[in-house]
Amino acid sequence: MSAANVASYAARPQTEHRRGVGPQGRPPQSERSPLPGRAFARSVARSRHRMMVRMTAPKGMKQGLTSYGDADFSLFLRKAFVKAMGLSDDALARPIVGIANTFSDYNACHGNVPQIVAAIKRGVMLAGGLPMEFPTISIHESFAYPTSMFLRNLMAMDTEEMLRAQPMDSVVLIGGCDKTIPAQMMAAASADVPAVFVPVGPMLVGHHRGETLGACTDCRRLWSDFRGGRISAEEIDAVNSRLAPTAGTCMVMGTASTMACIVEIMGLALPHSASIPATHADRLRSAEASGRQAAAMAVGGGPKPSELMTKAAFRNALVVLQAIGGSTNGLIHLTAAAGRLGIAIDLDEVDRLGREVPVLVDLKPSGRHYMEHFHWAGGVPRLVHELADLLDLDARNVEGTSLRERLMDLDTRDAQDVIRPFSNPIKASGSMAVLRGNLAPRGAIIKQSAATPALLQHTGRAVVFDSVEDMTMRVDSADLDVRADDVLVLRNAGPIGAPGMPEAGYLPIPKKLAKEGVKDMVRLSDARMSGTAFGAIVLHMTPEAALGGPLALVRDGDPIRLDVAGRRLDLLVDDAELARRRQEFDAHGAPGAAPVPTRGYAALFHRSVLQADEGCDFDFLVPGRGPR
Ligand code: FES
Repeated sequence: MSAANVASYAARPQTEHRRGVGPQGRPPQSERSPLPGRAFARSVARSRHRMMVRMTAPKGMKQGLTSYGDADFSLFLRKAFVKAMGLSDDALARPIVGIANTFSDYNACHGNVPQIVAAIKRGVMLAGGLPMEFPTISIHESFAYPTSMFLRNLMAMDTEEMLRAQPMDSVVLIGGCDKTIPAQMMAAASADVPAVFVPVGPMLVGHHRGETLGACTDCRRLWSDFRGGRISAEEIDAVNSRLAPTAGTCMVMGTASTMACIVEIMGLALPHSASIPATHADRLRSAEASGRQAAAMAVGGGPKPSELMTKAAFRNALVVLQAIGGSTNGLIHLTAAAGRLGIAIDLDEVDRLGREVPVLVDLKPSGRHYMEHFHWAGGVPRLVHELADLLDLDARNVEGTSLRERLMDLDTRDAQDVIRPFSNPIKASGSMAVLRGNLAPRGAIIKQSAATPALLQHTGRAVVFDSVEDMTMRVDSADLDVRADDVLVLRNAGPIGAPGMPEAGYLPIPKKLAKEGVKDMVRLSDARMSGTAFGAIVLHMTPEAALGGPLALVRDGDPIRLDVAGRRLDLLVDDAELARRRQEFDAHGAPGAAPVPTRGYAALFHRSVLQADEGCDFDFLVPGRGPR
């Protein structure tokens, strides 16, 4: 984006952000009706009100003053302290751009954040703003006990409250590792401070014995080979040093890459920012441009997240989620972010899109390539070109430009085979399907694009594990009664049962079967799965077993039928027997459920977390949603 663009955006009247925005293919109301009706009059009044609020609201250091009962004294005191950092009156009079710094020694994926912060600050200052860096919680997948999802809502609350508490006219949110961008989306939606997202970018690929490797699809594949005795301990040690060779997020289409693509398609991040490799100089140039953009938004007062995170933008995100072979976690995170704005993500629509939208991006785990290849193929803008007929092209971004306008400037001459044309997809239908049935009355998800096709229609005997711990203890036991055509069932691994809905849905193939060469089985749970994983794996079964969902009633040996074409998941046990088991459950509760926590964040989480179909947000953070 050019400096001229920034300047012209900053100078633009605030209502202009909304020009040209309308339902698919239709001009906006202002251009359709010369004599507007009552609804239009109301909308104009709302726009005027928004503009007046922006013009009259305190800016810079004057906003959000600490309460001492004397506003002038509060400002006097604030300036006295901030001057201790050597800031001049000129600097303090500038529009303030907050920068949420998520660097942490515990978060290797965010190893390049210090350089990104420096580049953002440069951009803010080049545009005449004052950058103010502040820390928030940072979460890495492998360094979060019991699981990163348990902490996502805490990071969302931390970020939201810091955006509210500290004076800033706009903010740059630096995220990347799986739960960080979702937490920041939830926070931005609730705090509604003009925000630009800067993903840290994907890692470069690794290499081992002539093979290209990437975290963490290949982590799982090679670990399975090690478990199956196909590679040695020395080799798996060598691989361990090569799977994650640089800073940045996992370079397959896992949750981090998925969420980076989502903030870009929703207009919350600059074009191409989802896919520029973490270590590339363009990553820093994009960060600088994001800083400039945030400074322009600090002057102009918008667009605010609520103006970009519209129903149409969420639908665009769902289309892209299907077309990229995105992570199933992306659906939970989108549901949570939308819920903050009173927008419901309808699972039936998700499934409809799954039938209409093919997988076009040839990336692991659904395909062959890695994020750097996606970037050089043209990234999200090139994908938009292929998906144009399915997207609302009037959706705008932080720069105020629509997808349609940006498409006009897109150069599609580069030869590439990573982003397929609509006429030649890598999978004819989308990555995800929504299943219903007596085992999942409120839905379950399967990432069909990353499953063994022959297992998508399957009936087998249940082999039940009551908890993650039970699975860990028994799955490799020589005594386990299990066959390759059985269905592995894990329960009490949902939002409440585990707690935190860990990524345990990728149940390991029992060692004795792995040694026979079995690589995939039907697996069911109320857990999540890493976006980097593959297999015939049914996830997010809702309601979860710990809340008395039907998963709690399954017994070893029960026949279970998975019918992805028919979108069904059923326990083939008669109703009378299920009623008997239900009485037993009601009397004795769920064996394997974690004890109820009594203090701190764990108690708050247990009391308030919602189910997967509501995004696993806390009930008290969702407008209009009473206690669970
Ligand atoms: Fe951070 Fe994969 S572990 S993105």
